[in-house]
Formats: sequence, C-alpha cells, structure tokens
Amino acid sequence: MNWNELRFDFNPTGGENVRYYFRNGEWSAPQFTTDETIPVHISSAALNYGISAFEGLKVFRTEEGKIHIFRPLENAHRMQEASRRLCMPEVSDEMFLEACCEVVRRNAEFIPPLGSAAEMYLRPVLFATKPCLTVRAVDEAAFVLFATPVGTYFKEGIHPIKVVIDRSQDRVAPRGTGDVKIAANYAPSILSCERAHRSGYGAVIYTDALTHRYVEECGAANFIALRGNQYITPDSHTVLPSITNNSLCQLAADMGMEVIRRPIAVDELADFDTVAACGTGAIISPIGTIFDLDTGEKISYGDEVSPRLLELYHRLLDIQHGRAEDKHGWLYEVK
Ligand code: PLP
Ligand code: COI
Repeated sequence: MNWNELRFDFNPTGGENVRYYFRNGEWSAPQFTTDETIPVHISSAALNYGISAFEGLKVFRTEEGKIHIFRPLENAHRMQEASRRLCMPEVSDEMFLEACCEVVRRNAEFIPPLGSAAEMYLRPVLFATKPCLTVRAVDEAAFVLFATPVGTYFKEGIHPIKVVIDRSQDRVAPRGTGDVKIAANYAPSILSCERAHRSGYGAVIYTDALTHRYVEECGAANFIALRGNQYITPDSHTVLPSITNNSLCQLAADMGMEVIRRPIAVDELADFDTVAACGTGAIISPIGTIFDLDTGEKISYGDEVSPRLLELYHRLLDIQHGRAEDKHGWLYEVK
C-alpha cells in the first residue's frame, strides 16, 4: 500500500469487518467477514427513509507497537444519542468497544506506519433493516463496523484550504438533527458541496438556518477561530459536538488559551487571526480563504499556518501517536 498517496476514501485491504443484527429485542453475536457488501431489504427503513447513523474514529500504533483507539467511548455515546433520536436500537458501550477492538485486531497489519501521511479509520454504521413502508420507528437494525486506512479528509492536510459560504440550501433545520451524526444530515449538503468543488473550493461553510448570520459548520467538520489568546468555536445546538474540537478545546486550555463557546457571526470573520476546520477525518485543516457567495466578500488569512494552530495540531498528534503523555486519558488500548 502506498500510504502517502491515500485519499480519505474506502481504501480496500481485503480485511475483515463485523456485523451484528438486532431482532426480537436482542443483538446477535458478531459475524466477521471479508465481504464488503451487505444484503438489505428493498423496503428497509434505512434505504427508504434514511434511518441510519454512523461514527468515525481513528486508530494509532505507537513506536513501541501498542495500538490505541482515540476516545472511542465518546463515539459510542454519540451513537447512542443518535439511536434515541431516530428511535433505533442502541449499541451499548461494551458492544461498541468489542466491535472496534476486534476489527482493529483483525486489521492490525493495515494500520499505516508512524510518519506516513495516512491513518487507520474505523467506520461504525447503525441502520434500520426492517422492511417497512410506513414511516415509523423500527425494531430491526444492523450494526456494521469496518476499518480502512485513509489520508486526510481535505487533501491539503495541514495546508490552508479555500472555502465558500453558501446559504442557498441549509444543512440542518433549527430544531433538526444537526447535533447527532445521522446519515440524513449529509444528503442536504451534497448539492452545495458539489457546487463548491466544481468552483475550486474545498468545502462549504454552513450558516444557521434561522438567520443565516452565524457560522455553524465547515463541511463535515467543526469550525474554530483563533484571535490573540482566544480559541473560539460556535455554541449551537445544531452543530455536531465534535470529539476533535472538544479535545482541541482542552489542549488550548492546557496551552493557557481562553476557550470560548459562543455564536460566531459571519460579520466578524475578518477579525480573526486564524480560522480552521476540525474533525476526525480533517484533523485540523486551516482555512486560507473564505468567499461569501451572497456578498461577494473575500477574506484571506494568508498561506502560512499560524504557530498557535500548528501547536494545537502537534499536541493532538503527539498524544495520538504516543509521543506525549496522555494526561487526559484519551487513548484506549487494544490488547
Ligand atoms: N461536524 C460534522 C458535520 C461531521 O461530520 C464531523 C465528523 O465527524 C465533525 C463535525 C467532527 O466530529 P469529530 O471530531 O467527532 O469527528
Ligand atoms: C469524520 O471526520 O470522521 C467524519 O465522519 C466526517 C465524514 C462525513 C467523512
């Protein structure tokens, strides 16, 4: 495998994935297979009504050969919240961890080597398998988890990307599901995402659907801004609570920065020193330029990555890769 050439995509390895099925009130035993497909009923609620949730986690091997998953219980809890919101069967902490650890053990040879540009990504998916033409809660579901080595979500990695503010179609509704990681949040973003890519932009900044005055998310990642000694990120119940952002808030506080969660107006974007997207796939992706499609305004933050942002990036990677002390207990060892 040419680790440094990998995109953020499903990069086939022939490794095993796992499936569990929920029927008659209980989960089946795990089934491991190298089959990359799964039979789905033509009237399943996932296919027809989007009743589906997913997660994304990363796995790292230290220099001494230990394997760690980054904060998997946070993902388990977020998926449980998605289950409650979609009225789907829940995956317990134990089952989620078992699935992660066993898939990692069976795919350990595909964890990219330290120093390469790639990382191992785990994708748990929970979806309604129940054949069901009425729109209603389901009591049959599948939980699937696979592993694949990936490059960074934005191909530029730690180099600045160009993004666009597009208000023509909202990603999530004001009282919708933006705060849970469900498949149905992503479908409404495809059109603007595609338009942005065709015009040479890496991602879309979504604003709040009520006033369109506040920044919400940057593509499939959270939005963060630095000004002086402040780390600022949107406070909104329609933004996904990002585990990466939450970790960066802690690291920023460790660096002595003031961490502020508050609404961020589009009008103040030009006042920030640095802005960036962050997430499991994106890690930290600095934003070099923001173009507002409605006003025609262009804000440039320069082509250099600010030292503060770079320090946050290295502090996160150093913990993940086992080079720095894991003093917040974020690493879960796969034995
Ligand atoms: N926001 C959205 C819409 C996402 O899809 C993701 C990716 O998971 C994130 C933010 C970042 O969340 P996390 O850091 O937990 O991966
Ligand atoms: C991640 O960053 O882990 C994500 O799940 C984003 C995704 C939609 C690719």
